[in-house]
Formats: sequence, structure tokens, C-alpha cells
Amino acid sequence: MVLPGWLHTVWLAIFLAGQGTVLGLEFDINDEQSIKNAAAKTAFNMMSQYHGNESGQIPGKLPDTWWEGGAMFMTLIQYWFWTGDTSYNEVTTQGMLWQKGENDYFPSNYSNYLGNDDQVFWGLAAMTAAELNFPEQDGQPSWLSLAQGVFNTQVPRWDTSSCNGGLRWQIWPYQAGYTTKNSVSNGGLFQLSARLGRYTTNHTYTEWAEKIWDWTATTTLLSTKNWNIADTTTTQANCKDQGNLQWTYNYGMYLSGAAYMYNLTNGGDKWKKGIDGLMETTFSRFFPQKFGGNVMSEISCEPNMMCDRNQDCFKGFLSSWLTFMTTIVPYTAGEILPKIQASAEAAAKQCSGGGSKMECGRRWHQANWDGTTSLETDMSALSIFSSNMITHKLQDNAPLTADTGGTSKSNPNAGTGPEEHTIKPKPITTADRAGASILTILFICGWIASLTWLVYGG
Ligand SMILES: *[C@@H]1O[C@H](CO)[C@@H](O)[C@H](O)[C@H]1NC(C)=O
Ligand SMILES: *[C@@H]1O[C@H](CO)[C@@H](O)[C@H](O)[C@H]1NC(C)=O
Ligand SMILES: *[C@@H]1O[C@H](CO)[C@@H](O)[C@H](O)[C@H]1NC(C)=O
Ligand SMILES: *[C@@H]1O[C@H](CO)[C@@H](O)[C@H](O)[C@H]1NC(C)=O
Repeated sequence: MVLPGWLHTVWLAIFLAGQGTVLGLEFDINDEQSIKNAAAKTAFNMMSQYHGNESGQIPGKLPDTWWEGGAMFMTLIQYWFWTGDTSYNEVTTQGMLWQKGENDYFPSNYSNYLGNDDQVFWGLAAMTAAELNFPEQDGQPSWLSLAQGVFNTQVPRWDTSSCNGGLRWQIWPYQAGYTTKNSVSNGGLFQLSARLGRYTTNHTYTEWAEKIWDWTATTTLLSTKNWNIADTTTTQANCKDQGNLQWTYNYGMYLSGAAYMYNLTNGGDKWKKGIDGLMETTFSRFFPQKFGGNVMSEISCEPNMMCDRNQDCFKGFLSSWLTFMTTIVPYTAGEILPKIQASAEAAAKQCSGGGSKMECGRRWHQANWDGTTSLETDMSALSIFSSNMITHKLQDNAPLTADTGGTSKSNPNAGTGPEEHTIKPKPITTADRAGASILTILFICGWIASLTWLVYGG
């Protein structure tokens, strides 16, 4: 359609006038009710895009992604904790339990193409539920045991055939990414282990956390000199190469894990160094001076607006992990809280998408809505809004442990049932993200044959 020039001008004027009146969500860091309102509105918008609890749908499953379900429930558990709003507890419990697999968040419908990072997000969601005493369901495994189930299934995947250790990104050899060792997978298990260690005081977890941190620092993934965290490295190069894209969640994973280790070692120097080093790089990179120095930005994809749906979730994780960090590493609060507050105020201005629905865009640093709306951008905004309750919820908000009131029951053997001992991927279908080259298929046939031989012939 080609508009006459004058009509176009009129149209543009009306459009701009309309934009001018849209101010985003009201958000005042000093007003508890305004924080709760903004969070409630954003939670509602996010959940309007979730249909897993409707008849004929699969609880906990979002279209074309499995891991994001875990991230979404983690965000809702934190939302409940900070605001006290129980509206989404039922749907959260339903999804979290439906997707539990054999108590290990490795459900057979999807396990053919899951990576370690996908699985660990559900484990971290379960850990969050345990630490915040999110209500348990009778006759179901405890939240803590589900987190332990993820730990128990990931540790045996520790791979010493290259790089002297580390988790691979992908679990199955036919997946692209099998030869990658990445920060979010290793950082994920590091953080989960540190949190399990602090909750249970079981040294097995703490030792694993330390081992994963130390190993990461031997590779190009983590530098303990300049505190850079790279995204990926590969087994072909024995972890000497580097995919150095910068992502908030990679820094958040290791920073938060170090915070738990700091706390459980009663202020251990090694962890203090890690926290101070990583805070410095996290702040200088993801809170750019050009946006005032306190507003978070996903710097590798926001400038060109090329963030994919995964990447649109990341700022939310860093928001919540930094916020909880102030409770277990209290000396960091003075530096962290102004960033949580300024980021939330900025994010609220982004929430004028979808007309009166007020959905949140991506670029928190931009004063007007950037034109994006998604479940993921809402999820990140929800996280930064909820986090701001920390200055209003006047109690010890630290994640609980078995000794400080956490009631979730431990089951150190979770996820190690007989089913897990035999590796048996289902036949690969076209729906799976399998690169179906002849070589891969031959390799898998040989591999299943040798497994069969091990099981039946050995
Ligand atoms: C699904 O959950 C939403 C909350 O997100 C709730 O409003 C709705 O009633 C639930 N639907 C069903 C069918 O239970
Ligand atoms: C697995 O797939 C079946 C068939 O679509 C579905 O009924 C079931 O709910 C799915 N389970 C999970 C854990 O997603
Ligand atoms: C560990 O966390 C608790 C809150 O659970 C806090 O009171 C304590 O000061 C922290 N320890 C250190 C060494 O910061
Ligand atoms: C500690 O955790 C390990 C690993 O899951 C387990 O084998 C061990 O039994 C646990 N110890 C206690 C005392 O729970």
C-alpha cells in the first residue's frame, strides 16, 4: 500500500503522538505496592503465553523449547517468594512435577536432544524451590531430591577424554555441540553443586563445586587473571580455543556459585577473590557507562536487536542471582542494589508493548518501547521487578539450608534408579535435532551394539 505523502505524514504524526502517551509500567522502587503491581502485570502477561495447563497440552512444556519451562518456573517461584502472590503456584508445581523424568529432569520425550545446560536449569529451579521452602506436594519427590537427581545424572558425564575434564555441552555424540565444552553447562553444575553443598553440608557437593571451578580456570572458559568468561571452547583444540561471546548468564552462573561457596566456607578467600573479580567484569561489561552504569544490557545481541529467544531470558537470571547474592555475601549489597533498582526502573519504561497489555521489550536502557514482546522478555522483566522487593521484605531473605529452616528432604540417591544405569536413547526420529549423516548413524549402531554387548554379553 502506497500512501499519499500528506496522508503518510498525518499517519506518522498520529502514530508518534500515540507513542508519546505510552509511558510504560509505573514503577517506584520506594513503593512496595508499585513493585508488586508491575510484577503481577508482567507475570500475567508471561503466563498468558503459557498453555501447558490447558486440556490436551503438556504441563511444563513450552512450544519449541524445553529448557525455558524450567527457567520460567524458577522465575515464578522467585516471584512468589518476593511478593507472596500464590496465583501461579499450582501451575508451577504441576509443570515442575510433570517434567521430572526419573526424578532427574531428563524426561524420555526430550532426552534424545537435551544438553547439560537444558537439564541444569530445571535442577536450579528445583533447588530454588527447596531454598525458598516452596510448598511440596504429598506423594511426590521433594524439590531438594529433584535437584540432587540432576547432580547425580550430570556428574557421571564428567568427561576426562579431552581437556582433562569438563562437561560437554551436548550429551549425545550425534548432537552438534557434543565436541563443545561450554560455560553455562559447567557453570550450571558448579552453581548447583555449590548450592547443594550449602544446603546439605555434604562435602561431595562442595568438592565437586571446587573441582568444576578449578577445571574451568584451567581452560579458556574462565580467566582468574582478567576474570573473563568465554562462552565455549572445543575438545578438538583440547579446550585451548575460545568462543568469546559475552553473555550475562555465564557470568551469573559462576558468580552466584562462588557466592554460595563463599558463604559455606565462611568467607573463604579463594571465593572472595572470585566474587570481586567477576563482579568487576560483570558490572563493567553488562552495565555500560553509556547507559549510566547501572542499567543491565545484553551487550552481545541488543545493539543490533539480534537476541534470540534464549538470549532474551538471560538478563533475568543475572538479576535474580545478583539479588540473592546480596543476602549470602552481604558486603556486595551496596554495589549490587543500585544496579537492581536502576535496571528495574529502566525495564518498566520498556513495558508499553501490545497496547494496554503493557508487555515488556528487550532493551532496558532505551526510554521508549523497542517493539519486541515475548514470553522471554516478560520473564526477564518479571525477574528484575520481583527482585526489587528485597528492600521491602524485611526479613532474612537468604536461601535456606537444612540448618536454617529449609524443610525439603534430602535423597542423595535421587535419579540413580535402575533406569538410569542403562543408557538407552529412543530411536531417533526426524523430529529430533539429529544430524543424520551416514557416519553418525553407523557410529550409533556400533555404539548401541557395543552397549548391548556390555549389557547382555558381558
Ligand atoms: C492455567 O493457569 C492459569 C494461570 O496461569 C489459570 O488462570 C488457568 O485457569 C489455568 N487453566 C486451567 C485449565 O487450569
Ligand atoms: C510425553 O509425550 C506424550 C505424548 O505426546 C505426552 O502425553 C506426555 O505428557 C509427555 N510427557 C512429558 C513429560 O512431556
Ligand atoms: C552467609 O549467609 C548468611 C545468611 O544466610 C549471612 O548472615 C552471613 O553473614 C553469610 N556469611 C558470610 C561470611 O558473609
Ligand atoms: C553425600 O552425597 C553423596 C553423593 O550424592 C552420597 O553418595 C552420600 O551418601 C551423601 N552423604 C550423606 C551423609 O548424605
